[in-house]
Amino acid sequence: MTTKVIKIDPGNMRSEDFVEAASILRSGGLVAFPTETVYGLGGNALDPDASRKIYAAKGRPSDNPLIVHIADVSALEELARDIPDEAYRLAEAFWPGPLTIILKKKPIVPDSTTGGLATVAIRFPSHPVANRLILESGLYIAAPSANASGRPSTTKAEHVIEDLDGKIDMVIDSGSSQIGLESTIVDLSEGTPTILRPGFVTIEMLRRIVPGIVYDRAVTERKKDDTIVAKAPGMKYRHYAPKGDLMIFEGDPDRVAEAINEAVKRANEAGKRAGVLATAQNLDRYDCAVIECVGSKTDEEEISSHLFDTLRRFDELGVDLIFSESFDCGGLGQAIMNRLLKAAGYRVLEV
Ligand code: TXA
Ligand code: MG
Repeated sequence: MTTKVIKIDPGNMRSEDFVEAASILRSGGLVAFPTETVYGLGGNALDPDASRKIYAAKGRPSDNPLIVHIADVSALEELARDIPDEAYRLAEAFWPGPLTIILKKKPIVPDSTTGGLATVAIRFPSHPVANRLILESGLYIAAPSANASGRPSTTKAEHVIEDLDGKIDMVIDSGSSQIGLESTIVDLSEGTPTILRPGFVTIEMLRRIVPGIVYDRAVTERKKDDTIVAKAPGMKYRHYAPKGDLMIFEGDPDRVAEAINEAVKRANEAGKRAGVLATAQNLDRYDCAVIECVGSKTDEEEISSHLFDTLRRFDELGVDLIFSESFDCGGLGQAIMNRLLKAAGYRVLEV
């Protein structure tokens, strides 16, 4: 199959722009599209064959459920049952936006979309192109991140082409995703409201609406205890990984720089190509041929929007080993460290 790439300017969209993409989706095909978090690989969420095609294109295990994207809060009642009041309060506060809510599913949602689970993940994205695509197609759109399974999520159409060219019908190119990390996932399907995946909507923001919300233990304690199994099936896989082996260095910036420079030297002696993932403030401290800046230490939004792109750049540069600084875990830092730890397979060196 040839993958068609079309450009849509979010600031200047017309209905005509969406005719072909909407028709592909309605006939069971796949269209990758921009969202405010990352690019999504979309198919008709209520068509089991479309979900199966999504798993095949990504090479994703079919027990890993998809998020259903909607463009109106009223869709909640069509897709989910026993909806608690918290769901409406969170929707009111954060939708449209980078928050996914898990609820008990209604039979209309096929098992292939939810990986056989009795629950469904629902998100109302704020990106104008995503919103318009859902409305113009008249569908609910199931969309995982538009990367090959296990690779860093895609924040640009070019990344989608890198991973999925020839495997999907179309990519809509609307430039870079602003947030750069996937949505926060909150489970409201049973018991205590729980954050399964940290994202741009932080625990502090969520607690203002749902004071009792907690993190799934897999988010906060997995680093120390590798017997904990994540409740979001997708969070248990090695993930977000560049081709080069990533290792995180934690500690005082001087000592981190010293340890990284030593690691670079050893890698080079072993005939390996090393790269350093650094913040702007520390660039001068490193002695390495490849140093990629992920943003300013004091600007978490900048780091979040560049993280996956930076990991992919190391691949383009043919780096075998990546040595990374670590980041603070407050606010958005929790989501940044969560993705970085997964990409590193939890390899952290405390120096
Ligand atoms: O920002 C995002 O959420 C992006 C954009 C495209 O919307 N989508 C995204 O999808 O990140 P994906 O498939 O890459 O990640 C979805 C995560 C997976 O870890 C999956 O296991 C979890 O959500 N998930 C989906 N449905 C679930 C359910 N019913 N119960 C528990 N976890 C679920
Ligand atoms: Mg993903």
